[in-house]
Amino acid sequence: MKLGKKIAWALLIVFVGMQFFQPDKNEDTSDHLATFLSETNPPDQVEHLLKTSCFDCHSNHTVYPWYNRVAPVSYWLADHIDHGKGHLNFSEWDTYDAGEKDHKLEEVVETVESGEMPLREYTWTHAEARLTESQRNAILEWARLSRSRLAVNGSPK
Ligand code: HEC
Repeated sequence: MKLGKKIAWALLIVFVGMQFFQPDKNEDTSDHLATFLSETNPPDQVEHLLKTSCFDCHSNHTVYPWYNRVAPVSYWLADHIDHGKGHLNFSEWDTYDAGEKDHKLEEVVETVESGEMPLREYTWTHAEARLTESQRNAILEWARLSRSRLAVNGSPK
């Protein structure tokens, strides 16, 4: 067998072997967003936008695309989700103290206003997650309002 062919076979075997290993999935089915939603009270439109544009990477439940079944793509996605959740996890809102909540909402304003979020790699493959100007404004308005509401009422924790 020629060397090129041997290498091609070796790569194929590695690729197939890889498929037997997949990272743990981010698929909590409990009511993990309850605290966040009740404390920040987003209007339906904003809740829907957060769901389609943010929760896949910033909550404990990701709606996976079909290609997540293919390693090593699954590892790449898992890494993005871990990283995103490390910075901000709406499902763990109850673990943030009042100062952290305020800071997270401030960052939501900054990253959405600048167009940094949702990540571009994500909107390439999730067209529905792209935000129009008026959708961005709706998120900004809600986040600012929540910040002032939390500042006035404090949060239960
Ligand atoms: C594809 C995954 C993904 C999506 C979708 C996504 N994010 Fe992120 N987000 C990340 C990652 C990864 C980081 C870590 C920041 C970095 O290192 O670039 C992050 C960081 C953040 C931060 C913290 C920034 C900081 O300075 O710590 C905020 C706030 C944020 N995202 C808000 C949002 C909002 C709001 C949406 C929806 C409009 C959203 N993200 C959608 C992956 C995502």
